[in-house]
Amino acid sequence: MIEISTSILNVAEQNAMKTFYDLEVAKTDYYHIDVMDGKFVEKNTSDLMYSYASSIKQMSNLPLDVHLMVSDIKEYVDKYIPLSPHFITIHYEACKNKQEVKEILEYIKKNNIMCGLSIKPGTKVEEIYEFLPNLSLFLVMTVEPGKGGQKLIPQTIEKISKLKKYLYENNLETYIEADGGINIENVNILKEVGADILVVGSCIINSADYKKTIQELKKY
Ligand code: DX5
Ligand code: ZN
Repeated sequence: MIEISTSILNVAEQNAMKTFYDLEVAKTDYYHIDVMDGKFVEKNTSDLMYSYASSIKQMSNLPLDVHLMVSDIKEYVDKYIPLSPHFITIHYEACKNKQEVKEILEYIKKNNIMCGLSIKPGTKVEEIYEFLPNLSLFLVMTVEPGKGGQKLIPQTIEKISKLKKYLYENNLETYIEADGGINIENVNILKEVGADILVVGSCIINSADYKKTIQELKKY
């Protein structure tokens, strides 16, 4: 069964706690925390996301799925380790070289957190094959990172199916996560190509009934 990681990027501050509570009742599988630093991407959500993640940690046992869209990766990894997220995902494009990718992934794992690596729509999936044996999660961005509410870029679907095939042929068990522009209309294609976890923001947060929307997204 596909899992849903709800992006809380666009949750309004006035009723944030109620929204987090409602999402738990609606059975989101994870809270997806979109950390942006104003450098790797234009927007800066750093303080808000840290305060949201800390609040969630106090009120819920559901796992945190932290997506770091930042340049100073190590600094942010250290900031999030004390919150014991289920996943910490870093961006391949934010690393200086492949050695740095390896070192940071190792560092996350050493702290007993599942490590994830993400690529932007323009990066070829083949570039990251060598990291897969050491990865728990591979996050395929289906929009350009930087903001919620964008349209899914159709060409990214093909990357997921290529990756799925590669994982199968090489007996690897990395989860595939897709992130950006996912909604009721395009969810089936993502299931068909083999995504395991779907990050969904606007489609859930802008809906009147979170539970119904999550059920609808999960339904086959
Ligand atoms: C984009 C973020 C996504 C995004 C998801 O940079 O990584 O998590 O906010 O939101 P929607 O579903 O609105 O595209
Ligand atoms: Zn994200």
